Amino acid sequence: MKKIVSLVLVALIAVSCVMGLASCGGSGNTDSKAEVKELHMATNAAFEPYEFYKDKKIVGIDPEMAQAICDKLGYKLVIDDMDFDAIITAVTTGKADFGMAGMTVTDERKKKVDFTDSYTTTTQVIIVNEKDNKVKSADDLETATIGVQRGTTGDVYVSDLEKAKIERFNTGPDAVLALTKGKVDAVVIDGQPAKAFVKKNKGTKILSDPFAEEDYAICLAKDSELTAEFNKALKELKKDGTLDKINAKYIKE
Ligand code: ARG
Repeated sequence: MKKIVSLVLVALIAVSCVMGLASCGGSGNTDSKAEVKELHMATNAAFEPYEFYKDKKIVGIDPEMAQAICDKLGYKLVIDDMDFDAIITAVTTGKADFGMAGMTVTDERKKKVDFTDSYTTTTQVIIVNEKDNKVKSADDLETATIGVQRGTTGDVYVSDLEKAKIERFNTGPDAVLALTKGKVDAVVIDGQPAKAFVKKNKGTKILSDPFAEEDYAICLAKDSELTAEFNKALKELKKDGTLDKINAKYIKE
């Protein structure tokens, strides 16, 4: 019986080789590798758990999701690290094919780029020094010195506060460093990165009331044909549990 089964199997494999159904040792498509199109992703890799350096490599939820999307669509992913406020220009000028950086969908940005469907909902939070009680709630921001990452939604929100003094930094970690040195009273930043920053900086804490809800999505050039492809891949990765799995890998609680 076993013999018959294996004979049938061998025959089947041989037939599919001839018909080109199986790869049969990979001799068929050897030269297609050179033709794989690269997609450049613009990001700002100082934003754990979404993108950050680990052993000199950029890792996190966004690179893994981008890799899964590129694998599905047959592109080679290349990650370009830059200032956060350079990402949209990189995309609009074609230097990058898409931007993925824990980027919030806003009407202002939509004037310049298109966004995919959202892949995460999150909040903006306030980080303060544990010992300092100048800022106890969002209302106290009105008269505080506030640190933000330049060009982020945190920056946009606090820029509306007429009496507040705003210090803009290149990265989130720079803003948090200024907080630990007492140069600013509070930092306004996204919830998950805030948790990572507080974990690394003893004596800081997140205030309990988050004050703005936001959606993260991938941005692409206006009318890019890639957007529909990305949305299709994103939908499948949500459905088959890949997105949940990647989130669970980087967000432990
Ligand atoms: N969600 C915020 C925004 O879109 C902050 C994103 C910052 N991302 C980063 N990779 N540094 O403005």
